[in-house]
Amino acid sequence: MRRREKKDHAKAALSADRSSSIAVNSFVTRCVATGGLVVFAVASAGLSLALLGRPDLDAPSDGHVRLLEAKTDLNGHVVATLQNQELGLKILTLDRCIIGAQYLQEEFQDQAAFTGFALQEAVVFVNRSLRRVLQLGLGAASVPNFLRSRRIQVDVVEVSETVIDMAEKHFGFSSCRRGNTKACQQRFGRTVQGDGREFLFGRDRRYDLVISDVFVGSNPGHLHSLEVFQRIQQQWLWPSGVLMVNFVGFHSGHRSHISRKLARTLRHVFATTRCFRDEDPAEHLDAAANLVCLASDQAFHFNVPTTGDFSNPAPFSSVWVMKHFQQWQVLPAEDGNESIFQDSQNELLEMDSQAEIQAHFWSHAQTLIPSHVWTALGLLCCSESRKN
Ligand SMILES: *[C@@H]1O[C@H](CO)[C@@H](O)[C@H](O)[C@H]1NC(C)=O
Ligand SMILES: *[C@@H]1O[C@H](CO)[C@@H](O)[C@H](O)[C@H]1NC(C)=O
Repeated sequence: MRRREKKDHAKAALSADRSSSIAVNSFVTRCVATGGLVVFAVASAGLSLALLGRPDLDAPSDGHVRLLEAKTDLNGHVVATLQNQELGLKILTLDRCIIGAQYLQEEFQDQAAFTGFALQEAVVFVNRSLRRVLQLGLGAASVPNFLRSRRIQVDVVEVSETVIDMAEKHFGFSSCRRGNTKACQQRFGRTVQGDGREFLFGRDRRYDLVISDVFVGSNPGHLHSLEVFQRIQQQWLWPSGVLMVNFVGFHSGHRSHISRKLARTLRHVFATTRCFRDEDPAEHLDAAANLVCLASDQAFHFNVPTTGDFSNPAPFSSVWVMKHFQQWQVLPAEDGNESIFQDSQNELLEMDSQAEIQAHFWSHAQTLIPSHVWTALGLLCCSESRKN
């Protein structure tokens, strides 16, 4: 928290896509300096509006978004790093999905750019000693970088070689695969390229915390099954270990059945499970959002600081998310009627709901990245965002 003491941040909310009635899902947090909320220069227009409420951000004009690098990975996915000057963000995309982002300005780079990452980073306050962490899914390395900067060793498993390369080249991630690998791994942790499920069913090792953050426009079903959670509990976690799953989905209404199934499955495996949304559940009630579930066999609570930056953080900043997320608990245990699906091969996700979530995120991605960039990437807009 060294750097954080110096500043604070507010947020710029991203508007819902105007062509769709689906509301906003995941928000960009915004950096500002403390004492007078001085706005980070490159984003002043967007931010001053954001501080007033939840404005629509106009789609950035052509000059604001620059493609830094794009590559097709071995699985045929288009991975790209873009720079949105107006928002002061570097963005990592996989196909049509934003999988990570980081502030361009170095002094803000340890602050989560999205509320979903701020919520996950709050895991540092769980009442456990976190020494070794396993992260499934790298993205732009926000959470691994944050934990590593707090002297926690984080091993990473990521299926896309290209994502690992771009995280290393553009987002300050150390894969520890070159140079003095041993010293690097000792300090930061190692990086394995491969499928998370194959990795989990291979050789094991014990961790204090396993983080699953594998959303790529959909939540891959093969990593969200009863079998996988049991494997993590039995082979990868210490008895007091914690599994944290970031799942993108709905928390209320009929479309929440998959999220509820996820929570129910975790409760079937672990003694305690609590899920949180990355914004107030009363806001954007019908929107998909990051739902972060923590599960453990031993009770846990969070020791979130209340002084310093945490005494009065700017609304919608990432510290503010950390201070308030415990009030945003969702997916409570159902009263004595846990209908667990018995077949351990059963996967949680159903295709129709996935399409809904994808469309939702595609419309979100469109508000950050203008269409000519998608065209340049060969990822032309689809009709999904205009359905419903
Ligand atoms: C963490 O807090 C819970 C109560 O919330 C307590 O039961 C548990 O023993 C604590 N665990 C550790 C390792 O301190
Ligand atoms: C429990 O689940 C069954 C089957 O879904 C349902 O018929 C029943 O009403 C539920 N009971 C309660 C108390 O919710």
